[in-house]
Amino acid sequence: MMTIEDVCRLAPVVPVLVIDDAETAVPLAQALVAGGLRALEITLRTPVALDAIRRVADAVPEAVVGVGTLMNADDVRASVAAGARFGVSPGFSARILDAADEAGLPMLPGVATPSEAMAAAERGMSVLKFFPAEANGGVPVLRAWASPLAGLHFCPTGGINAATAPDYLALPNVICVGGSWVAPERAVVQGDWDTVTRLAAEAGALG
Ligand code: 3PG
Repeated sequence: MMTIEDVCRLAPVVPVLVIDDAETAVPLAQALVAGGLRALEITLRTPVALDAIRRVADAVPEAVVGVGTLMNADDVRASVAAGARFGVSPGFSARILDAADEAGLPMLPGVATPSEAMAAAERGMSVLKFFPAEANGGVPVLRAWASPLAGLHFCPTGGINAATAPDYLALPNVICVGGSWVAPERAVVQGDWDTVTRLAAEAGALG
């Protein structure tokens, strides 16, 4: 089983995917993997999300498919049953983390304050999502956390794009960034997988 650190070290960018049509899940995942991004977060924000996770887990073995927007323990169990190999939540929830521990799901919980980061550290976690990154102060906040929260590493997510990702990736306490810009809705709807692969390859070359 991969640790969450293993997952985050696969590439500098973890695509955050909101999938409206399950039929797009496999070609989208293949396009991202072709560009070099293997860790994929499929968010539980659409009715087809679990189906999408199942399809990618079955059909795209090179992808490491994860589940995002986990809101409760039932989400954790359903996602693991669908084939999710890592989990992401917007915030820090002990119940979600307990369920993930029980299910053997590596977790990337969201934090936005030092107190939440410390609560995660008390559970032995050292890789956390900083969310929503840009709205919470972005690069200067993570830079300010580096010394007092030494030993913690972050995957900032939320409002990051190809232009701003390098500033995050240059920080010593940033392990990767998350973002949706590598899978633009227009390209997905049009089945423009070449564009997705190009954006993924550009993202994979960052850092
Ligand atoms: C989200 O909330 O959807 C993720 O944090 C991705 O954010 P983004 O769309 O700003 O990249």
